[in-house]
Amino acid sequence: MTEKIGKIGKIEGIVDSDNTQRFDDDALHFDAAINPYGCSPRVVEAIEEFARTRVYRFYGEPTAAVLRERWAARFDLAPDNFVVYNGAGEALAWLFITHLVMRKGRLIAPSPSYERFIEAGRRVGAEVIEVPLEADSFALPVERIIKAARENRATLGLISNPNNPTGNILLSREHLDRLLNEVPECLWIVDEAYADYAGITFAPLVREHKNLVVLRTFSKAYGLAGLRVGAAIAHRSVAAPLAALRIPWCVNSLSLVAACAALEDHAYLEETVARIRHDCAEFGERLSEISYLKIYPSAANFFLLQLTVLNDEQRLKQILIEGNMRVRSRPDMPGYIRVTSLLPQDNRRFLAVLREFEAHGEKV
Ligand SMILES: Cc1ncc(COP(=O)(O)O)c(C=O)c1O
Repeated sequence: MTEKIGKIGKIEGIVDSDNTQRFDDDALHFDAAINPYGCSPRVVEAIEEFARTRVYRFYGEPTAAVLRERWAARFDLAPDNFVVYNGAGEALAWLFITHLVMRKGRLIAPSPSYERFIEAGRRVGAEVIEVPLEADSFALPVERIIKAARENRATLGLISNPNNPTGNILLSREHLDRLLNEVPECLWIVDEAYADYAGITFAPLVREHKNLVVLRTFSKAYGLAGLRVGAAIAHRSVAAPLAALRIPWCVNSLSLVAACAALEDHAYLEETVARIRHDCAEFGERLSEISYLKIYPSAANFFLLQLTVLNDEQRLKQILIEGNMRVRSRPDMPGYIRVTSLLPQDNRRFLAVLREFEAHGEKV
């Protein structure tokens, strides 16, 4: 594979537009990497209380001060290190505006990574430098990333840790240190959307590094995807200009109340993460027994699977749709699907379909 440089391009349709996620149907959505156990009951109580007392009449806090304070304490950081947005997605949009649009910068990212974010980089008209992950392991090619970032004078780097769609940990502390120190003029964004499952975070490093931003979200392990709460965590000197551009009250007060309640119930988060890890281990074990699949090790709540016999993931998708199950695939990764671990009984239904083909010799 060669490194490809995407020039300013026309606006194209989103890459995974075949995945129409309709949640009004009764399909099992193995295609959405959400938490199947949902949020803490304390969040539900807080939302109900919010509605009952009609607190929404007021504007609430313009800068999400209470959430920033409580969230920062979790990482032993200061509230000024946090800029709270409508999900990690909005945090990234502002980083693109400041570091790609306003500075006419260039984005560097490994490939494959989260396709919506890369597409967003292209849409703002930025040059996007994609560096392929190692062929077999999907490990981060640190030397090549450093070289490409220097040669292309990248202004922004984006790495998901764990990575979507491969599920693996891309960054060790040593690798991150190298990126931060050897390409200091680039602002490195570490997207930790799935980091709660992996149990690692680089957020505390923003204390001493001015070219690091960590993205966190309530969409995944906290089970609040629809409420849209996330943050950019950065050194004060990076967070302050972002905070100055942020639209006051941009995150609605219901979402802030829900996020605070979610943070307070840390025991629920720990329990849910432990359950999901346990389910994933079991699901992964069973998936690895299917002869026509190669399963990649994952630190997230989903697996990347490669169809090793016939590369026809569209046929597999179709068969699963007939069983009312959705999985994710992407045009740039033929032969692969991404599957989220859902509830144990749902995972068993999925495995039963896959096994049936194996048993009947009807390879997908
Ligand atoms: C790697 C990654 N980052 C971020 C997000 C989205 O985060 P948010 O809902 O906070 O915008 C996703 C959602 O799928 C994701 O896979």
